[in-house]
Parts: sequence; structure tokens; C-alpha cells
Amino acid sequence: MRFFIDTADLDQIKEAHDLGVLDGVTTNPSLMAKSGITGAKNIEDHYKAICSIVDGDVSAEVIATDYQGIISEGEYLASLAPNIVVKVPMIKDGIKAISYFSNNGIKTNCTLVFSSGQAILAAKAGATYISPFVGRVDDINWDGIALIEEIAEIYAIQGYDTEILAASIRSSKHIVEAAMAGADIATCPLHTILGLLKHPLTDIGLEKFLADHAKGNS
Ligand code: E4P
Repeated sequence: MRFFIDTADLDQIKEAHDLGVLDGVTTNPSLMAKSGITGAKNIEDHYKAICSIVDGDVSAEVIATDYQGIISEGEYLASLAPNIVVKVPMIKDGIKAISYFSNNGIKTNCTLVFSSGQAILAAKAGATYISPFVGRVDDINWDGIALIEEIAEIYAIQGYDTEILAASIRSSKHIVEAAMAGADIATCPLHTILGLLKHPLTDIGLEKFLADHAKGNS
């Protein structure tokens, strides 16, 4: 399973990149606003800055919700850097636009996916990635990881090429569960990636190794 980082924060993107495990980045309008990035020019510059750090795919979300608007905004975003993926919401005009982008060699990430039916439709339209929102499904007391599992099974049976990008990841446990459920990628906040490092027995074991080494060398 590949790792994307789910943030617009350049320091966090650099930290994950320096760790050597980063395969891409996802952003959304809320994450851009959280990082204080507003206005078309600043947003454009910010995408370019992200793409200068990361070679892998960088999802840039359209704001338009009508077909023509999604097409012109998506083509503009895709022109900013070769690794930009146009992130399009799961709506009727979005599906139509994904089909257009797919026929015109532009990569897409279909976002706000909450059901297997939506995942089938996005795959039929030729989406490069779909983003099922694990955490937000859990928030309404449904099972976000079960959704990933079901989509993975359908995609395997049907032989769809669309990749499953598990989104709305809230914990390190979610990352492990998404991997078990068959996600191709998990897009994760930095703290959930760093959380994978942690185990108390690792800390205790390392402390003992270093103490024994110090004894032997004293
Ligand atoms: C990324 O593609 C999604 O927009 C993001 O993971 C949503 O996360 P949230 O549900 O924590 O806002």
C-alpha cells in the first residue's frame, strides 16, 4: 500500500518526504484554508510549491460544481505541474467531467465517496483514484473499513483499474486496517504515519540494548 499525506502544510509534507515513505499528497479546500492559503494566485503558487517537493501524485480539488466549470478549472490545475491529479466531487457533473478527463489523459481523484455504488460509477467513468472517506463513515456509526473491503472486492471481481485511496484516515490503526482491507493507497495526516513507529516494547528493547552496550564498554 502506498502512502499519501493528507495536508497542505509544506513543513509536514517535507517531514514525510524526508522520512522516505511518501508517495503523494492530497489536499482539499478545507486543508488549504486551514493552512491559510486563499486566493487563486496563492493557491496556484502553493500547488507548485507542493509539486516541487513531491514527485508523486498531488490531488488538487476543483471548486466548480458544473460540468463546464469543472473542465476549465481541472484543465487549468492539471497545467500547473505534471503530477497534479484533478480532484472531482462525486456528483453527476463530476462523473461526466471524470469521463472527459479520462478520455483526455488527465488523472482524476473522485472524492466524497461513501458507498460501493458511487465507487462503481467512478470506476466506470475512468477515475484514476476514488477516495472513500473512512473516518467520516465511522463518524455516523457505519463501518468505514468495511466500505473499503467491499469496494476492493468489487474492483477485483470486475477488474477495474481505478485505485482505492482510503481517505479521512484518523488513526494509525485506520492505516493498518485499510491495508488489510485492500486499499491501494492511504492518505494520512502526518501524526498517523508517525504513530506507526510507536510500540512500548521497541522503546524498552532499545533502552536495554543501549544499556548493555554501555556496560560492556565501561
Ligand atoms: C482527502 O482526500 C480527504 O479530503 C480528506 O481525507 C478528508 O478528511 P477529513 O474527513 O478528516 O476531513
